[in-house]
Amino acid sequence: MTTVLLTVRSVVEEAEGVRGLLLADPTGAALAPWEPGAHLEVTLPSGAVRHYSLCGDPADRSTYRLGVLREPGGRGGSEEVHTSVGEGTVLGVRGPFNRFPLVPAERYLFVAGGIGITPLLPMVRSLPPGSWALLYGGRSLATMAYREELAPLPGVTFVPQDTAGLPDLDAVLGALPPSTAVYCCGPEGLLRAVEERWAGPLHKERFGAAPVERASGEGGFEVELRRTGRVLRVEAGRSLLDAVREVVPGVAYSCEEGWCGTCETKVLAGTPEHHDSVLGEDEKAAGTTMMICVGRSRDGRLVLDL
Ligand code: FES
Repeated sequence: MTTVLLTVRSVVEEAEGVRGLLLADPTGAALAPWEPGAHLEVTLPSGAVRHYSLCGDPADRSTYRLGVLREPGGRGGSEEVHTSVGEGTVLGVRGPFNRFPLVPAERYLFVAGGIGITPLLPMVRSLPPGSWALLYGGRSLATMAYREELAPLPGVTFVPQDTAGLPDLDAVLGALPPSTAVYCCGPEGLLRAVEERWAGPLHKERFGAAPVERASGEGGFEVELRRTGRVLRVEAGRSLLDAVREVVPGVAYSCEEGWCGTCETKVLAGTPEHHDSVLGEDEKAAGTTMMICVGRSRDGRLVLDL
């Protein structure tokens, strides 16, 4: 998929620490269509690549709306959006991609933590009232974006931590019929809390890195890049992605933490050792694809379609 250049048409403060961007094609051309749950890969002026969920109206083909949380301790992308991106800034955009689609269900529960509301907002707006409920937690009401849009919708419960504490997941999840589709987006702790309490269908998207278990794969191994015609040695303590970048400098990657999916690569032979939070258990067991930023090899040699 090619990168298109889009212009920031407007910037708004959606909540304390959350900046909203509207992106449009500079020629006014219609933007590629998308469905709730989709995200864009955005290249910022510094060259940093980040992923942001689309949180506007899919029927509006003239703009893409994004919401970006400022994370002072982060890797710098959100700081850049908050300090250096303004009206007229040109951004490189790939996508939309959708790794978090809305599946058909009779009933839904959405659980959002902080900026995790962004992919869930278009989902709830696309569903008939009465078929869903949304539990939206945040540090305080002032930090919770899109409250005014959500407040008139039936089924929304705001849980600001400073006055209401944490959402009572035991009570909410315990009362659900088992066929309910539960969607959760937010920080790792929230995802884990929902996973521990819900055995039914669970769809989740995480913001930030999942804990990566690296124990068994730290030994060195060989990797053959079949299309490039090179065999490389990946030493212990070095990532497969780093080794690949030396000979394929344009290889796609972004988070380097196994959660964004950008570096997904086809495995032609060998047994990958997965450490990502993108692939499902079945995909990991099949071993036909892997995230090379965190993945390694279970045996001496891997052959990749690169
Ligand atoms: S770069 Fe994000 S999963 Fe590998």
